[in-house]
Amino acid sequence: MTANILVLDEGTTSTRAMLFGADGRLIGSAQQELTQIYPAPGRVEHDAREIWHRTLACAREMVEKSGGAHNVAAIGITNQRETVVAWDTATGEPLANALVWQDRRTADFCMTLREAGHENDVQRATGLLLDPYFSGTKMRWLVEHEPAVAGAAKAGTLALGTVESWLVFKLTGGALLTDASNASRTLLMRLDGSYFDPGLCDLFEVPHSALAEVCDNAGNFGSTLPELFGTPIAITGLAGDQQSATIGQGCLSPGETKATYGTGAFILANKGRDIPASANRLLGTVLYQLGGERIYALEGSVFVAGSLVQWLRDSLGLLGTAAETETLARSIPGSGGVVIVPALSGLGAPHWRPEAGGVIAGLSFATGRAQIARAALEAMAHQTDDLARAFAADGAEWTSLKIDGGMSANDWMAQDIANILDLPVERPTFVETTAVGAAMLAGVGAGLFASLEDASAAMRGGIDHFTPRMSPEERDIRRRQWSKALSAA
Ligand code: G3P
Repeated sequence: MTANILVLDEGTTSTRAMLFGADGRLIGSAQQELTQIYPAPGRVEHDAREIWHRTLACAREMVEKSGGAHNVAAIGITNQRETVVAWDTATGEPLANALVWQDRRTADFCMTLREAGHENDVQRATGLLLDPYFSGTKMRWLVEHEPAVAGAAKAGTLALGTVESWLVFKLTGGALLTDASNASRTLLMRLDGSYFDPGLCDLFEVPHSALAEVCDNAGNFGSTLPELFGTPIAITGLAGDQQSATIGQGCLSPGETKATYGTGAFILANKGRDIPASANRLLGTVLYQLGGERIYALEGSVFVAGSLVQWLRDSLGLLGTAAETETLARSIPGSGGVVIVPALSGLGAPHWRPEAGGVIAGLSFATGRAQIARAALEAMAHQTDDLARAFAADGAEWTSLKIDGGMSANDWMAQDIANILDLPVERPTFVETTAVGAAMLAGVGAGLFASLEDASAAMRGGIDHFTPRMSPEERDIRRRQWSKALSAA
């Protein structure tokens, strides 16, 4: 028997299964795209049935690659956070489309709560702000607008959960649980509380009885139904994808900070046992919980990163592949004054303006594909730079930054981030740290490692370094152009 670890990485645009050896070696991976449903501007949905079927298909491929379920010691699940699924616990079927984290349809309800003066109390309790990004107002919307969801609530068979809860329910055939990192994104759990808070549920009008039990990030969460993979496999790790990436980057000590460039860009700094309180519109969140003890993080959430490149490629047809941005950016000495502010789903941290729209500024007849592609990559450095200032103002100044995620494989972008931040940037040679973090948690939960530190020492690989090399004058010009364009968003 081999002690492989199977990671299910359920992202925003695709679902993946990745098979790791206990030494961190990637043995194989299977991936399927997820359909993005855009019913109206500002609305983004997923089909929860599709999430389940595609996840299962990818998982089966990797179990086969492992030579059978008896060679898989544990499953770790990591997921797009805040996305809400409503399902019926009696039938095991979804009751409506899932509302994706990018969905802004609850902006008005958030505004009503803000105008009623609730934001300070909510922020103190949950670490979050009144923005449609978080799960709580999406849960309320489903109960209010989807008759099947309201019906199940009345019948006592409603489950409202984030994507890891949905997958655990399907894999185990009925366990209803979530982990502390995902729960900390709902607006319904106090950062110092170990369960969903009835008072917060009342405020957000979410039926408490429909919510899952809040668990550690590593432990025994149940086993897969025998009919799924032949032999049951224990599920022993659960985490939101950004918390998982922070763990996978080895940010296990206070102050260590990572930035993941995936669909969006999410920067988390380990804050140790201190509950973070931001005066600069950053978020306080649970990094992980083990043995009931919590480690917290301060987070800056940027809604658009890789999805900008995807939009340039798929909607505008300006690019053949995402990787082409690097060649195009290198083909010119500068963007020719073109600046893109990618507020395609409003602006997240530190601005929190759900109504903001994207901007392409500085166009001229000299503007071509290369200038647009370069400006798109430059926007990543500037969004990160805005957060660097917010973190510093909150007393969490960065001395270096660890980057990861699919988009970080772009060397030009990695160098530009170092240049604009004027800080050393480190990138692991294996950039899929989200999956590594989930494998580490699952390994700890299965008893393969005594601690996350041990798991990190065993599983993390090499690192590439990027050192700043931009003149202060050039940095200044770039920052000024960015600020000007930002004010038009
Ligand atoms: O909070 C949203 C985040 O979890 C989405 O992650 O990997 O799809 O950019 P990703």
